[in-house]
Amino acid sequence: MRKFTNAISSIVIADLGCSSGPNAVALISVAVEAIFRYCALEQKVPPELCVLLNDLPDNDFNNVAKHLVAFQKDAECFGPVLTAIVPGSFYKRLFSSSSVHLAFASNSVHWLSEAPEDLMKGGIPMYDADDDLRQERRPLVLEAYARKFRKDFTLFLNLRAQELVPGGQMVISLPGYCSSESAGQSNLPWDGIAFMLNDMVSRGVVEREKLDSFYIPMYGPSDKELRKIIEDESSFTINNILAHEVMNDMDRSSITPKMMALAARAAYEPIIVQHFGATVVEEFERTVELHVRAGTPQLAAAGLVFLSVSLTKKV
Ligand SMILES: C[S@@+](CC[C@H](N)C(=O)[O-])C[C@H]1O[C@@H](n2cnc3c(N)ncnc32)[C@H](O)[C@@H]1O
Repeated sequence: MRKFTNAISSIVIADLGCSSGPNAVALISVAVEAIFRYCALEQKVPPELCVLLNDLPDNDFNNVAKHLVAFQKDAECFGPVLTAIVPGSFYKRLFSSSSVHLAFASNSVHWLSEAPEDLMKGGIPMYDADDDLRQERRPLVLEAYARKFRKDFTLFLNLRAQELVPGGQMVISLPGYCSSESAGQSNLPWDGIAFMLNDMVSRGVVEREKLDSFYIPMYGPSDKELRKIIEDESSFTINNILAHEVMNDMDRSSITPKMMALAARAAYEPIIVQHFGATVVEEFERTVELHVRAGTPQLAAAGLVFLSVSLTKKV
């Protein structure tokens, strides 16, 4: 007769920045399935699972709820899964103290809480139309973004450290760079988008003053920067930092310029609409498609990879 032992009675899993499409439940599905399979294999009574999905309040949580219900139904055959939606910024406390066992943030913590204050206050544009001026100000812009990322990510780690149980696990993946190959790279994954908007300025679709006061609150750190911030914050042990290609050759060959344009629109539409108004979005999408089709070199995010970090909360 199979002997079932119960290791832990409940496990809380949180996804930070879940978004709203089918991707909203993709990661938790993998985690939940892995836990149930492990329990079946080890002949353990499965724990009660509680899944918490977080994103900013403007996220389409109605859509998330529909995906959650479908996911819950699929998981029923394995065991009980309770679900909840937690709206709010992950730069604030979201969950109660020492309550979360596993947290992940996929492709979300490269979004800063806001653009660097020193650039905004100093009226220094993130992207100068003039090539010489842009090169000259480049280190200043980069440093301001790097400082802001350090401040935000330190806060993110500190908040999650309060919410995770001792020994709790956190997995983060975000676009960034490998320090070993960093020569000539920008650490600003939005460079190509700024180039698109600048093209729209030159055609009179967008006003120059508007672009000069537009900042994309996003930063791609290097693996070395990430490691240093995590070590300095000191709440977590680093298990692993891995880098992998954003797209493999198969992805590259199957992605059309239209798909690239739609992806850029999906990612940047909210902040573009907020700053420039809804009328420019169609033209933005067309401009991206045109440049991808033409193979404009400024669009290729040289050296951009996905960095995945696995952490354990110190006991
Ligand atoms: C590119 S989507 C990633 C979605 C999903 N995690 C995935 O891997 O496909 C980034 C998500 O992060 C969310 N996000 C950005 N800043 C956030 C913040 N401060 N707090 C919570 N969510 C945030 C955005 O609203 C967006 O839904």
